[in-house]
Amino acid sequence: MNTQSKPKILVARAIFPEALAKLEESFEVRSNQEDRIFSSAELQKELASVVGALVAGSERIDANALANAKDLKVVANISVGYNNFDVPAMTAAGVMATNTPDVLTDTTADFGFALLMATARRITESEHWVRNGHWDKWSIVHNPLGMDLHHTTIGIIGMGRIGQGIAKRALGFGMNVIYHNRSRLSEADEKACGAKYVSKEELLKTADHVVLVLPYTAENHHTIGAKEIALMKPTATLVNIARGGIVDDAALAHALKANKIFAAGLDVFEGEPGVHSELLKLSNVVLAPHIASATEKTRRAMVDLAVENLRAALSGKKPPSLINSELFKA
Ligand code: DGY
Repeated sequence: MNTQSKPKILVARAIFPEALAKLEESFEVRSNQEDRIFSSAELQKELASVVGALVAGSERIDANALANAKDLKVVANISVGYNNFDVPAMTAAGVMATNTPDVLTDTTADFGFALLMATARRITESEHWVRNGHWDKWSIVHNPLGMDLHHTTIGIIGMGRIGQGIAKRALGFGMNVIYHNRSRLSEADEKACGAKYVSKEELLKTADHVVLVLPYTAENHHTIGAKEIALMKPTATLVNIARGGIVDDAALAHALKANKIFAAGLDVFEGEPGVHSELLKLSNVVLAPHIASATEKTRRAMVDLAVENLRAALSGKKPPSLINSELFKA
């Protein structure tokens, strides 16, 4: 097959070289292995000449991005969250939208739990303490003292696949699991997670550890702000592995500085990769660079699923994780 006859696709972010080489067997690939983030004008231009695209959360796919994309059939997100997609605009333009659910559930739930443990037990703060030469003796009271996880109450806001994965891990620590979600789980799912449904207010008031795993939508913007933090126990921790914008980071920094809650663990930030300057100065917050799904095995599985979605859409089959399923006519 010569290059001219291959359909043209965009791979908007760096991916594993083997995955790229495989794509190049069937497609003419405009790749971005230097991993530079396209401006919106560049993205619009790139999308104008392709039939499919692999993107990540950094690429906003809206009416503006799609303005000249007359041949585009599919945009496959290498991510389960798809708040970078304006799905109605994509549907109106006849562009299939896909994401990567399931393949990252356990890896992300593992990380949520790891971040919770690091936060409650002050692990990164302790490490800095050791590296900075402050550890001169073992002490009963003068070493960093944390909060227990075992036999405390975890409150999970957002009880989808990842939230349920965190709940199941919490059971192994003898934790009492409460949750709040847009819709209540089935009785069987609640039983499998040992989880009790409560209002958001009750969760914030009673949980020792609050973990956020809900998708970002306009409605969920600042689900946690000053008012919600004021409801939490002063001994509580807050972990955000959901999306930047779910938490009001300025309000959180203010609360942490005033010790209104014990500590926070954040994997996602408003305006990331920027981090609120006050958060950077605080020792009672654990900061991670949006790595909840970042194991090599899982990132490869995410790329593979995105490629499978793209290939299916371009060969007239239903992509396995099609979001705007009304566009697929069997
Ligand atoms: C996801 O898959 O949504 C992760 O947060 C990476 O964006």
